[in-house]
Amino acid sequence: MASYLSATAVLSLLAQANALVRPDGVGRLPALGWNTWNAFNCDIDASKILTAAEQTISLGLKDAGYEYINIDDCWSVKSGRDPNTKRIIPDSTKFPDGISGIASQIHDLGLKVGIYSSAGTETCAGYPASLGYEKIDAETFAEWGIDYLKYDNCGVPSNWTDAYTDCVPDTTNGSNFPNGTCPDLTNPAPAEYDWSTSKTAKRFEAMRDALLNVDRTILYSLCEWGQADVNTWGNATGNSWRTTGDITPHWERIAEIANQNSFYITYADFWGYPDPDMLEVGNGNLTLEENRAHFALWAAMKSPLIIGTPLDSIKEEHVSILKNKYLLAFHQDPVVGRAASPYKWGYNPDWTFDPAHPAEYWSGASSALGGTLVLMLNSEGSKKTRTAVWSEVPGLGGNGYRVTDVWTGEDLGCVEKEYSVELQSHDVAALVVGESC
Ligand SMILES: *[C@@H]1O[C@H](CO)[C@@H](O)[C@H](O)[C@H]1NC(C)=O
Ligand SMILES: *[C@@H]1O[C@H](CO)[C@@H](O)[C@H](O)[C@H]1NC(C)=O
Ligand SMILES: *[C@@H]1O[C@H](CO)[C@@H](O)[C@H](O)[C@H]1NC(C)=O
Ligand SMILES: *[C@@H]1O[C@H](CO)[C@@H](O)[C@H](O)[C@H]1NC(C)=O
Ligand SMILES: *[C@@H]1O[C@H](CO)[C@@H](O)[C@H](O)[C@H]1NC(C)=O
Repeated sequence: MASYLSATAVLSLLAQANALVRPDGVGRLPALGWNTWNAFNCDIDASKILTAAEQTISLGLKDAGYEYINIDDCWSVKSGRDPNTKRIIPDSTKFPDGISGIASQIHDLGLKVGIYSSAGTETCAGYPASLGYEKIDAETFAEWGIDYLKYDNCGVPSNWTDAYTDCVPDTTNGSNFPNGTCPDLTNPAPAEYDWSTSKTAKRFEAMRDALLNVDRTILYSLCEWGQADVNTWGNATGNSWRTTGDITPHWERIAEIANQNSFYITYADFWGYPDPDMLEVGNGNLTLEENRAHFALWAAMKSPLIIGTPLDSIKEEHVSILKNKYLLAFHQDPVVGRAASPYKWGYNPDWTFDPAHPAEYWSGASSALGGTLVLMLNSEGSKKTRTAVWSEVPGLGGNGYRVTDVWTGEDLGCVEKEYSVELQSHDVAALVVGESC
């Protein structure tokens, strides 16, 4: 997949070392939290959000590190802004004490609060959005006590569309685009085009600048679905940036997104993280194996881990996945910023773009775990054996290592040369490969 890191992309990668570095380490590590959308879509109110905040504490998720309680789309009056102040007006039926009221209740619980808008004239659900009102909205959010902004890409007026067409191979259905190449674009950008000069980048930079000008630290989460080559300017613009279209609670979609995001994984480092979208753990008909494979891949990729299921009805087995101490320690490593990356595709030859069969073998160094995290995925539809061979794993030159099973916490002792495991369909084995022995 050489085209994913062209010479221009590498140059832009060097240029973007100037990231959104915020006070108190906000945005240095990938975010941990909860968001309304995957749980409730538009059907939100203060009571549901307060319940989620309280459950975050009583289920032990706050102690595990989850801190943001984020309100997604549909929180405001749909008909328009306040005619005098030009501010967005909170829906007083859903939020009787306004957004500032729910924010202060969440703060009183020792948690942080997030809000949602879009870099267009309307949000995806048709509510007023922030294009042209960045300053007013950033000031309003700061005054309400907001700590996190998810900024979407809907409602873009025609005079703000980009000069060139772009394509994210996964957005329609990756299988339509063999090998991650897009079909003939009507107006492709010249090879040397710098997408950080695009109108899309400018729309998202306008809100970044407005947020930097308010007297409150607000984590900035870009949600423009991987368009306009965002990996090359995301680090300079936000603390995370979506790399794909929306997730759904289906293994096919999770696999498509994991495949797509794996090709951007070298862009993950302190202060800036590619975001393959929020978690679906606990939703739909995902099997236990699919739930934990989804979580392990997202944690290993250092995606923001934003829970999206109702926390008053979540199953204990899903809570324990979300609280896995080894995966969270890897994800929140204070010393190593890089994510895990594929060292072997397994089912496919290396570097194959396959929405149904993402890379199966992943590894990443971890100071927090004192070793290397290794994942082995079974992307197939039936039970299969997968084998981690130490000599194939970057950084592991020795013969034997002490190994811990991440799911059970079991010490597997001194394992020589390789470790084989039989995996159910769509399950993942996760190992901490520690000291040599
Ligand atoms: C698009 O039109 C609006 C309204 O006239 C204007 O404020 C804005 O600057 C224009 N955007 C661009 C990129 O020219
Ligand atoms: C993507 O397209 C393939 C081939 O048409 C189909 O088999 C698969 O179900 C689709 N996946 C999704 C998530 O729609
Ligand atoms: C995809 O890549 C493989 C391996 O490089 C190649 O054999 C195949 O022809 C490619 N398919 C398309 C549609 O480009
Ligand atoms: C993003 O910027 C930060 C701060 O300058 C830097 O530490 C990090 O390496 C950058 N990320 C990438 C992928 O270059
Ligand atoms: C789960 O399965 C049931 C029964 O097959 C189906 O009706 C429902 O739509 C599925 N849910 C999701 C989110 O796919």
